[in-house]
Amino acid sequence: MAANSVSHCFSLSIIMLFLYLQLIHCNVTYDRKAIAIDGQKRILFAGSIHYPRSTPEMWEGLIQKAKNGGLDVIDTYVFWNLHEPSPGNYNFEGRYDLVQFIKLVKKAGLYVHLRIGPYICGEWNFGGFPVWLKYVPGISFRTDNEPFKKAMAKFTQKIVQMMKDENLFESQGGPIILSQIENEYEPESKLYGPAGKAYVKWAAKMAVGLNTGVPWVMCKEYDAPDPVINTCNGFYCDYFSPNKPYKPTLWTEAWTGWFSDFGGPNYQRPVEDLAFAVARFIQKGGSFVNYYMYHGGTNFGRTAGGPFITTSYDYDAPIDEYGLIRQPKYDHLKELHKAVKLCEKALLNSDPNIVILGSYEKAHVFYSESGGCAAFLSNYNLRSNAKVTFNNMHYNLPRWSISILPDCQNVVFNTAKVGPKASRVQMVPTNVKIESWETFNEDVHSVDDESSMTVKGLLEQLNITRDTSDYLWYTTSVRISSSESFLRKGTPLTLSIQTAGHGIHVFINGQLSGSAFGTQQKRKFSFTKNINLHPGENKISILSIAVGLPNIGPHFETWNIGVQGSVVLHGLDEGKKDLTWQKWSYKVGLKGEADNLSSPNSIPSIVWTRGSLETLKHPLTWYKAFFNAPGGDNPLALDMSGMGKGQVWINGESIGRYWTISVNGNCTGCSYVGAFRQTKCHFGCGGPTQQWYHVPRSWLKPTRNSLVVFEEIGGDASKISIVKRLTTTDK
Ligand code: GAL
Repeated sequence: MAANSVSHCFSLSIIMLFLYLQLIHCNVTYDRKAIAIDGQKRILFAGSIHYPRSTPEMWEGLIQKAKNGGLDVIDTYVFWNLHEPSPGNYNFEGRYDLVQFIKLVKKAGLYVHLRIGPYICGEWNFGGFPVWLKYVPGISFRTDNEPFKKAMAKFTQKIVQMMKDENLFESQGGPIILSQIENEYEPESKLYGPAGKAYVKWAAKMAVGLNTGVPWVMCKEYDAPDPVINTCNGFYCDYFSPNKPYKPTLWTEAWTGWFSDFGGPNYQRPVEDLAFAVARFIQKGGSFVNYYMYHGGTNFGRTAGGPFITTSYDYDAPIDEYGLIRQPKYDHLKELHKAVKLCEKALLNSDPNIVILGSYEKAHVFYSESGGCAAFLSNYNLRSNAKVTFNNMHYNLPRWSISILPDCQNVVFNTAKVGPKASRVQMVPTNVKIESWETFNEDVHSVDDESSMTVKGLLEQLNITRDTSDYLWYTTSVRISSSESFLRKGTPLTLSIQTAGHGIHVFINGQLSGSAFGTQQKRKFSFTKNINLHPGENKISILSIAVGLPNIGPHFETWNIGVQGSVVLHGLDEGKKDLTWQKWSYKVGLKGEADNLSSPNSIPSIVWTRGSLETLKHPLTWYKAFFNAPGGDNPLALDMSGMGKGQVWINGESIGRYWTISVNGNCTGCSYVGAFRQTKCHFGCGGPTQQWYHVPRSWLKPTRNSLVVFEEIGGDASKISIVKRLTTTDK
């Protein structure tokens, strides 16, 4: 009897252990309706928050706000170029601490969608690829190329192993329920033909072979091989169906706004339009929506891609760049999530029964197993409101909207009816004094000293700098005979320079003669300007500037930067003089960069000069000053409107590139664009694209914070001020 009860007990514990293991080792699965976590199908709302675009001190607050906004999942890319700055040397510290970020998401009780890529686009420098990758012999990015595949597999395995070691996949009891391999490969796949197709198959097989126990997705890749799920990205995704009837309909990027580029306008997407798009997707049978971005944040340092992407990556997201809630966007989406969740059982149980209510009006009706009923009533007319009858009841449907009825009777939410709360943002002056200004001028005369390299002809910039700096000096000289007739006549010479982008400042005998820049749409540009040369030796020094490496486009790794093409002088007695193939000397970066002037510790005191700032509007000037942190806990920014273009650091941390170039895009207000009628609103015309630059509170000490600015064109540093960001919510 005793032996019997022992063996009974033993088998009971085996069963318990088995059940327990089942519970913690439940893989994430999917069927045609949804992703199932621990066997439970779910409608999931997700939001992109990229860990390096804020600070570790901000993460917990951002995640909590996302949770309070009704999100279930946090989505992030993995940023290869931050993590592996040189081959085999890894960095996962501070803002790059991916594991810590994921653990905080878990702590908040949310899930993670880990978009490993490792190509990530994302308006991020080089689309996330480390620049050294371009120089691996024989490499060709994102295609059926052995060196590329080897490097991609190695990094992907490294990340997956890190996650496994920390038990972060849901199959191990962790929060990661989905992973992404590649990113929007469809356009390349079409262009690259059989090699593209072979690469997609290889990428899927490589990822699936890592046995994470959670599904992989490929966004915007119709040929995603099984079991990888192809997903949609866009302003609207209700036209989208997965490539197999047994895969769920997932929307990995529902664009909440848009990014901006220097010189372009800022964008807003009205929340009515976003909520309408999401409701359209859900009524079509979609079961996962990720807001890209839910918090956009900041492209600190030189992480912005493009070229020309701004330092701010605010994106008009529900949580703004500074971590503050943006109303009415945040609350309206929160209400939408609540309404959809009330319909979850019916939505997951059945396909919609579609009832035509009028020429633009429809009802999508869903039934749950227990006989419950949920309905989405839609009006696709852009211009007119509608009155409809559904189940013998009358409903008013505002134009371009969907009403949600979790019981098929009562409207709990309409996408066009936005609550009265609206955030009013103010950038308010603080009483902070920025003091003890010192300056240092780059010496243009010494840029072709013995440390520079001299060759015949024009070299490609990235090949020389390897992106260790935005800057490369191209210097040559021209001998002018005193018999030249332009000297006598007083007529000017003209210098014309062809470039591959992104910008240049031209110095003649040490004096700034002019500048020219490309744009995001047209990065190649030419410079043509009258210049003054004197008899004898004249020095032409061109400071060529990269403004973020490209992050999108077929084989963007082959795109050139710098003075490329030709440099020609017109107006001499011989006619035009081609300088292209003469001797040029090259110097990477600035003297101030080599001397590490941005760092508070390693500033050699000898180089700095105390001076009156009013008289110092020189190009290529470094400025340094100190300030005490303002009290309170409002987010802070630097107002850079008195400056031109450059970079700025606080206590050695790079705030990013600044540029006060005015918006030259159109600001025609809000317009409906394209076949799916997305609404984009442009604003900011008349002023700079970006005036304020986020200063994370955690980068400040109470007193004596160092502020270092490098100004390219010439500005008034005394006008730089620290402002605080206040949002008040009007009801
Ligand atoms: C998508 C891409 C994202 C981001 C977005 C625009 O096509 O997948 O990484 O670049 O566009 O913000």
